[in-house]
Amino acid sequence: MRWAGKCGDCGEWNTLIEEIVDERASIGNARIGSANALNAPQKLADIRPDDIKRIPLNIGEFSRVLGGGIVPGSLVLVGGDPGIGKSTLLMQSAVSIAKHSGTTLYVSGEESAQQLKMRAERLGVGDSELYLLTETNLDTVVHHIEQMKPKLTIIDSIQTMYVDSLASSAGTVTQVRESAQRLQQLAKSRGIACFIVGHVTKEGTIAGPKVLEHIVDTVLQLEGDRFHTFRLLRSIKNRFGATNEVGVFEMAGSGMTEVTNPSEAFLAERMMNAPGSAIAVTMEGTRPLLVEVQALTSVTQNPMPRRTANGFDHNRLYLLLAVLAKRVGIRLHDQDVFVNVVGGLNIDEPAADLAAAIAIASAAKGAIVPSDLAIIGEIGLSGELRQVAQLSHRVQEAAKLGFLRCLVPKTTRPIENVPPNIKILPARSVGEALDRVLNG
Ligand code: TYD
Ligand code: MG
Repeated sequence: MRWAGKCGDCGEWNTLIEEIVDERASIGNARIGSANALNAPQKLADIRPDDIKRIPLNIGEFSRVLGGGIVPGSLVLVGGDPGIGKSTLLMQSAVSIAKHSGTTLYVSGEESAQQLKMRAERLGVGDSELYLLTETNLDTVVHHIEQMKPKLTIIDSIQTMYVDSLASSAGTVTQVRESAQRLQQLAKSRGIACFIVGHVTKEGTIAGPKVLEHIVDTVLQLEGDRFHTFRLLRSIKNRFGATNEVGVFEMAGSGMTEVTNPSEAFLAERMMNAPGSAIAVTMEGTRPLLVEVQALTSVTQNPMPRRTANGFDHNRLYLLLAVLAKRVGIRLHDQDVFVNVVGGLNIDEPAADLAAAIAIASAAKGAIVPSDLAIIGEIGLSGELRQVAQLSHRVQEAAKLGFLRCLVPKTTRPIENVPPNIKILPARSVGEALDRVLNG
């Protein structure tokens, strides 16, 4: 036995976590194992697909991300930074289910019953079958769930729960995993849907290592910038629906309100005819989303000019600047460059490259990008424009929002279903795109 700071497997430092194996816990596990043995194998053909009757959830955006309602017996993990609105959204769901579908139990290990009541009233709970429990001992929680048999249980948060038989304290990997496993057993055996709140650690993972993600059926992540009102609920894993689905909300005085037309919302504050602004069409899940990309360049004496990207990948910004310098001669080595995606959104797909590059060029030259133009395209290292997925979808969304022209990578295949009110401007390279947009 000696001190070890580095993992012998992956070579990372400070990732080892001490786990104390408790004999009682392993006895518990054995019992769970034998209970499962009662399950007889079923013939695939005998299992009817319509056996899953989802519980309808009248928060449309949330319901869609889940795959169309809540699956009874499913375990859903909702992760996100502190203060982003996890408790608010789940309390709203609890209120909705309690009003329309039946008994709902909200278990909180973080807030007092008074605090919870205040929030619930703010969200318009009224008279419904919603029960609150402030408890951190998981055995007690399980006892109450078994007694009550609610339609939906919410555990806020998994890091505050602890199992008596384990020696480690609440929030440790051992506790979190054991608690989640027990909830999973309970949810599956009783058909009770369970939403679990999971805090995101400094490293950006839910509950430290990804232990939880394997146990639960669905992992949802609530994202957004605390200084902006928009919140994105993204499905990262879903055993009962598509992943990558995104729901958009706005944090308002009465909780999280759905944003049913996100493109319109994201473009609401746009300033027309200002240099350094371009509209990108990105995909969020299966939905196209139009966002404004802004850029600002300013001369600096600093030998290491600043490159700041908000909502845009830093490395891609460096790549775009290199392509602009090398392929079209826009050199910004003596200028600070700032790129910002409006609305607190994070764009992580390369289809927004062209819009960002055009915004930067527009800022550098002081030239205006026409306000009726939507921009789509990935940029390669030679300055060539590359095809992006779902082009037809994106063009349609741009047309729907009243854009008259759409700049796209030139293709050999025609784009399907182009609405008549939008004109397609194909370009082969960044240079060609800039010529068409800024000099025309
Ligand atoms: P909360 O749901 O407590 O965040 P989390 O559980 O993810 O830590 O809510 C965070 C913020 O939302 C808090 O600063 C207050 C604000 N808020 C509103 O703006 N409107 C509301 O109706 C509610 C309930 C909260
Ligand atoms: Mg909370």
